[in-house]
Order: sequence, then structure tokens, then C-alpha cells
Amino acid sequence: MEKEPSSSNTNRPPDGVPIAIFASGAGSNAQQIINYFKNDPTISIALIVSNKPEAGVLKIAGEEAIPSLIIEKEAFFRGDGYVKELQNRNIEWIILAGFLWKIPLSLIKAFPGKIINIHPALLPKYGGKGMYGHFVHEAVIAAGEKESGITIHFVDEQYDHGQSIFQSTCSVDQEDTAESLAKKVQTLEHRHYPEVIEKLIKKTQI
Ligand code: GAR
Repeated sequence: MEKEPSSSNTNRPPDGVPIAIFASGAGSNAQQIINYFKNDPTISIALIVSNKPEAGVLKIAGEEAIPSLIIEKEAFFRGDGYVKELQNRNIEWIILAGFLWKIPLSLIKAFPGKIINIHPALLPKYGGKGMYGHFVHEAVIAAGEKESGITIHFVDEQYDHGQSIFQSTCSVDQEDTAESLAKKVQTLEHRHYPEVIEKLIKKTQI
């Protein structure tokens, strides 16, 4: 299912390297990335992809006049029509920002070394299936960790597993709850993810 923005009034640059953001949730990281590249003529957020019709990120796409695509489960795991769709739009990089489905091999093969993810913990700890959002922070606190943080990494065919690109840490204090730790981690995500994306893309191909 595909939705074109109702407004043609977009301030996206016409020519930058086209990237797609995949997200399943609220989209706060997607929003940061969109804001960061708004005035950068070399990188363009060309598409928002989600697996959830009710995801907040789709509202952001509408407000920002960025085309969006909802991928259904069957098509994502058993078809590869959406790969064509990404290629037709000349997408060069895929940025996962809270996208909760495992990325199928067909997509990894179509975008080798060009799919990156952010995870709200210091991988390799606290990653894998079911490790997202508050589950991660609860596990970190339950284990008595003194430190947590973020990991930005290349995506391979295992959950939260590919080569690490960047990590940043924050303290886990005695009084921290999953909610307060989530806030600290989110601050790191918003501060670093757009910059890391920019450095990586510019280093690789501009
Ligand atoms: C982010 O904290 C991201 O690290 C996490 O989902 C959140 C999405 O928030 N991703 C994972 O847990 C992946 N395993 P957002 O929708 O507000 O950007």
C-alpha cells in the first residue's frame, strides 16, 4: 500500500543521495534524521517505510511531505516486490529507526553494506529477538549494569548482530527506572544517529 504526500510543497533537495527510513513506532529518531538533513543538498530522505499502518512515523511522513510505504508481512518475508519499489525510487541506503521486523536476506543482498540500525543498548549485550524498547532497559537494570548506551551497526541476517559502527554510553544510576534510562538513551540516539549517518554516507559515496 502506498501513499503519496498530499502536498507538493516539500523542502527536500531534488538530488541528494536518496535514503529510506524504516520505522515501526513513534518515529522520534526518524524526525531527528529528517530535520538534520532538511537543508543538506547531498542527502535526501526519499521514503518512509513502515510495517504498521498506525505508526506515528507515518504521521510524520505526511507532515513532512515525504512519500511513505506500508509493507505487509507476507510481502516482506515472502515476496520481494518492495525491493523493486525501493530500487525504482533509486534508494541507496536504508536506515532502520525502531523497525522491529528482522530484515530478510533478499533485502540485505539488494543493499549490501547499505542498511544500518540503531539499538538502545551496548551490543553485543541486550540484543536479539524481543529486545526492543522497554524490554532492553528493564534487562539492563535487572542485570545491575552500571552503563548502557546506543549501538549503531550494519545489518546482517541476524537480529542486532552486524558490524558495529558507533557506540556511545550513559550511566545507569541506582535510582534509574526503565523509563528514565530510556530517556537518557534516547538523548544519545537523537544526538548521534543523524551525524553518524551523514559521516558514513559522505565517506562512502560523496
Ligand atoms: C529506538 O530507541 C531504537 O533504538 C529502538 O526503537 C526505538 C524507536 O524509537 N530500536 C530497537 O529497539 C531495535 N532493536 P522512535 O520510534 O521514537 O525513533
